[in-house]
Amino acid sequence: MRKINISLNENYEDLSMAVANRIAAIIQSNPAALLCLAAGDTPLGALRALVDIQAAGHVNLRNVWYVGLDEWLGLGYQDKGSCAQIMQDSFYGPAGIPLDHVSVFNGLDPDTAIQTTQALAFITAHGGITLALLGIGMNGHLGFNEPGTSIDFPGGVVNLAETTRTVGTKYFDKPFPLERGITVGLRNLLAARHLILMANGEKKAAIVAACMTTQPDSALPASWLPVHPGFELYLDRAAASGLPDQLIKHA
Ligand code: F6R
Repeated sequence: MRKINISLNENYEDLSMAVANRIAAIIQSNPAALLCLAAGDTPLGALRALVDIQAAGHVNLRNVWYVGLDEWLGLGYQDKGSCAQIMQDSFYGPAGIPLDHVSVFNGLDPDTAIQTTQALAFITAHGGITLALLGIGMNGHLGFNEPGTSIDFPGGVVNLAETTRTVGTKYFDKPFPLERGITVGLRNLLAARHLILMANGEKKAAIVAACMTTQPDSALPASWLPVHPGFELYLDRAAASGLPDQLIKHA
């Protein structure tokens, strides 16, 4: 079994602080970094902690660059629960990030080719992604790279898996047709210098264990992470509870 760099934390608060401190350290050593940030529930604590670390004067989040990982097609900032809304209201806004330092998909733009081209050009213009902060879907997806996605997929529009459509309703207080998404693709994510996967809660234990213990397999996109030299896995105890002892004994 491959050795994985694991940070094991007692609870979500400790996990969030550990991830935030790690991101701050990466920014300190690379002030022109390009960060690719997942929305969703998992990273929110870490993103809030990062804002606090900046307020305490220990990191400057305003000089680095950001590319949004993904968006639901058909939704934009005005839709509560969209990736754009979550990230703007919980991170870019409170952190005071200049608008021109952020590239996010506009899920309302019918010209999805332009949206894809802009995001991928932004990544290229900044020399690739320095750090991707990822959550894991209940089906092992990364961003909206669903099971079956090729590792050569640069990014673009995807049909969402049934699990993603069902689980995704948790973000919204009214029904939306969640059929397609737009995402940074596995090719660009796996070319990042640092990849942080963050997971918390018992509900993630089985999928984390499945992805971390199998050979890389397109059926489980997150299973490509352990072969990446810059991969770091951040878990709370509940999310780590399915991992075999030999993987976590040094954590
Ligand atoms: C969201 C995203 C998704 C989520 C994943 C886990 O921008 O990219 O891949 O990271 O579905 O979602 P949560 O964190 O809500 O459990």
